[in-house]
Amino acid sequence: MGYNIAIDGPAGAGKSTIAKMVAKKLNFIYVDTGAMYRAIALYLLRDGVDTANEAAVSEAVKNADITIRYQDGAQQVILNGEDVSGLIRTEEVGNTASASVYPAVRAHLLELQRSLAASQNVIMDGRDIGTCILPDAQAKIYLTASSRVRALRRYKELTEKGTMCNLEEIEQDIIERDHRDMTREIAPLKQAEDAVLLDSSEMTIDQVVQAIIDTAKAHGLKEEA
Ligand code: DC
Repeated sequence: MGYNIAIDGPAGAGKSTIAKMVAKKLNFIYVDTGAMYRAIALYLLRDGVDTANEAAVSEAVKNADITIRYQDGAQQVILNGEDVSGLIRTEEVGNTASASVYPAVRAHLLELQRSLAASQNVIMDGRDIGTCILPDAQAKIYLTASSRVRALRRYKELTEKGTMCNLEEIEQDIIERDHRDMTREIAPLKQAEDAVLLDSSEMTIDQVVQAIIDTAKAHGLKEEA
């Protein structure tokens, strides 16, 4: 088995930015599970499936084949043969993903996620990695930040891309997504009992990266020779 680092936390906590940096420093593979849910959400949006209709979503997901490919170290998500990595990075797709996490959708992705972690060193991020997907991960991190700080980060990201947006609306969206992710019946977002809590509100990116590497070392990760 590889060495597995699981990172869970709410939307906008910086999981993917941080996990990518940790992966680079440790020479691990970064697995972004949210991207898989987003690819399914894109399929549902294109197919016009109502996400409130669990039966329809469960049926539709059978036709969404998701695979992962790595190019120059970056993860690409392939939906029925099409690289959708760029298309899934919208608020609409993120919200649709959050609204369509039914048991059939999770089951559809479980094997892919576990198999990626089984044979190699990975840092995997999501909502239920430490609690459900990789319960035996050697290091588990619960990464969070206040909703205001997360909204400000997203606001900055969007305005830098030239997207018009409103800070209050973004924060409201984050609060709603937190609520949905944390209160859902199936595999809700919560800190695993053996996870280390990191609140990044007042931390720099480098401090968070270092804290995760230190946690992994404290949990048996050997330094590269
Ligand atoms: O991390 P993200 O914003 O790309 O994830 C999009 C949505 O997908 C998130 O709001 C909830 C869902 N998700 C999940 O239920 N379990 C995961 N492991 C990853 C994402």
